[in-house]
Amino acid sequence: MTDYFDLIKQRESCRNYKEKEVEKEKLVACIEAARIAPSACNGQPWRFIIVNNKDLSPKISKCLQDLGMNKFTNNCPSFIIVLQEKTDIKARIGGKIKDQDYAPIDIGIATAHICLAATQQGLSTCIMGWFNEKKLKDLLHIPNSKRIRLVISVGYSADTTLRSKVRKSIDEIAQFI
Ligand SMILES: Cc1cc2nc3c(=O)[nH]c(=O)nc-3n(C[C@H](O)[C@H](O)[C@H](O)COP(=O)(O)O)c2cc1C
Repeated sequence: MTDYFDLIKQRESCRNYKEKEVEKEKLVACIEAARIAPSACNGQPWRFIIVNNKDLSPKISKCLQDLGMNKFTNNCPSFIIVLQEKTDIKARIGGKIKDQDYAPIDIGIATAHICLAATQQGLSTCIMGWFNEKKLKDLLHIPNSKRIRLVISVGYSADTTLRSKVRKSIDEIAQFI
């Protein structure tokens, strides 16, 4: 089993994919990782649309490229579209009382689970918050009332070496008291 710290260091945003297809079982394992992620009041405010389809994937890619962004997705074989779902009354009341919007937090956690599960299986990902939501909804017949929160590209990286992580120091982000 991969050491957790090795795994999180291996995960990086992949912007250069091989044309190699992704095995369905690996995508199912990623969704299993999301399924067991924690969420506020166990509300599980998510749904995932997995696109692993030679005809559809290039069309998804086009919806991610407003203003010339995310061009690297052109030959990415698979995408996971992360939708926000309405939670049950318990989770909604919890958020209202505490004046917190837990759903996007939960979705972020589930997305991290997906990316790490992908990494563990030799896949590479990029989380994308830049997409044309309307075009994606039209393409995938998603009702206008729903929100797409993130799109994750998934495939095999064409890069052979990992970049070093550019991050703030522990002193800048944490206070031990
Ligand atoms: C919510 C979110 C949205 C992001 N949107 C994009 C995006 O649209 N395009 C992109 O290339 N990278 C996107 N990224 C990736 C970040 O740029 C990347 O995680 C950050 O620079 C750190 O690099 P690393 O993931 O390689 O460690 C996004 C990441 C997150 C968490």
